[in-house]
Amino acid sequence: MSRRVVAQRYGGPEVLAVIDVEPAGPAAGEVVLEVRAIGVNPFDYKLYSGAFGADPAALPLSVGSEAAGVVVEVGDGATGPLGPISVGDEVIVYPVSEAYADRLVVSGDSVVPKPASLPWNEAAGLLAVGATAVDTLDTANIGSGDLLLVHAAAGGVGSLVVQLARARGATIIGTARPENHDYVRSLGATPVSYGAGLGDRVRVLAPDGVDAVIDTVGGDEAIEVSVELVRDRSRLVTTVPGPRLAESGFRIVGILGPDGMEPRKRARAALVDLAGSGDIRVRVARTYALSDAATAHADLRNPHPAGKFILLP
Ligand SMILES: NC(=O)c1ccc[n+]([C@@H]2O[C@H](COP(=O)([O-])OP(=O)(O)OC[C@H]3O[C@@H](n4cnc5c(N)ncnc54)[C@H](OP(=O)(O)O)[C@@H]3O)[C@@H](O)[C@H]2O)c1
Repeated sequence: MSRRVVAQRYGGPEVLAVIDVEPAGPAAGEVVLEVRAIGVNPFDYKLYSGAFGADPAALPLSVGSEAAGVVVEVGDGATGPLGPISVGDEVIVYPVSEAYADRLVVSGDSVVPKPASLPWNEAAGLLAVGATAVDTLDTANIGSGDLLLVHAAAGGVGSLVVQLARARGATIIGTARPENHDYVRSLGATPVSYGAGLGDRVRVLAPDGVDAVIDTVGGDEAIEVSVELVRDRSRLVTTVPGPRLAESGFRIVGILGPDGMEPRKRARAALVDLAGSGDIRVRVARTYALSDAATAHADLRNPHPAGKFILLP
C-alpha cells in the first residue's frame, strides 16, 4: 500500500487524513515516483478551505503541487519536457495535484531532472514558488535598472522574486519583519519593516517612488503603499486574488488565465539550472513527517520562520 494525504471534508487542517492507496502501475505517458520530499504551499490549504468552492462531489480532495523523488517505473512513451525519463532518475515533479504521498503516478510532462547538487528538500520546494516568481516578474516586465518594491520579501514566493529580480539587474526594496531583515539583505534586497509608517520608510529609500511592485500579501497596507509609490500603475502585480487589489489596478497572476499553467511550465528549465548552479537558493525552514501535514498547514497559516515547509514520506 502507498500512503496519501487527502482532505476528507472542507474546513481547517483537521480535515486532513492519511489514507492507504492500492499502488497503481503507470499508464502510457506516465511515470511512477518514489517520493523523497514534498513542497508545502499556502494554496494546498486554501484548496480545501472552501476558498475555491466546496463541491462535495470533489471529496476526498488530493493535495500538493510539487515533490521530488526517484523514478521507479516508466510507462510506454513517457518522456519529460526536458528529455527522456529512465528508472533511477532523480527528478522534480511540478505541476501535479496529489503530491502529498509516498508514491506518485504522474504525467511525464510534469517531470524534470533534479540537479545532483540540489538537496531533496530544496528541490521539492523550488518550482511552485519559483515559477510563480517568474510569472510575477514577467507580468511586471522587470528588467535592468528597475526599482522594485516586493511585499513579503522573506516569503516563499517573495524570496525567489528578490533573487530573480536581482539577476535581471533590478534594485529591490523588500518588506519583512525585523527578524528577517538579514535574510532579505542576503537575498539582494534592502529590507524595510511592514506596519504603520511603511510608506514613509520606503519613501526614504525611493524619494521618486518605485518603478514596479510585486505583492504577495494582499493586505490594505500593501495596497495603499503600492498605489501611492508606483510611478506606472500597469506595473502593480500581486499573487493574491481580491476585489480591492483588482479595483486598485493590480494585475493578479494565477493559473486561471488564458495561458493556464503554460508560463509556469516554461519557467521550470531555467529555475532548475539556476538552483543547480547555486545562483538561486531555496531556504528550508522546517520539515515534517507526511503524517503531520495538518500540523504543517496549521503552522504555515500563522507567523512562521522564513523558508519552505517540506513533508518527508
Ligand atoms: N497566484 C498564484 O499563482 C500564487 C502562487 C503562489 C503563492 N500564491 C499566494 O501568495 C501568497 C504568499 O505565498 P508564499 O508561499 O510566499 O507564503 P509564505 O512563504 O508563507 O510567505 C508569506 C510571508 O508573508 C509575510 N507577511 C505576513 N504578513 C505581512 C504583512 N502584513 N506585510 C508584509 N509581509 C507580510 C511573512 O513575512 P515575515 O515572516 O517577514 O513576517 C511571510 O514570510 C499566499 O497567499 C499564496 O497563496 C499565489
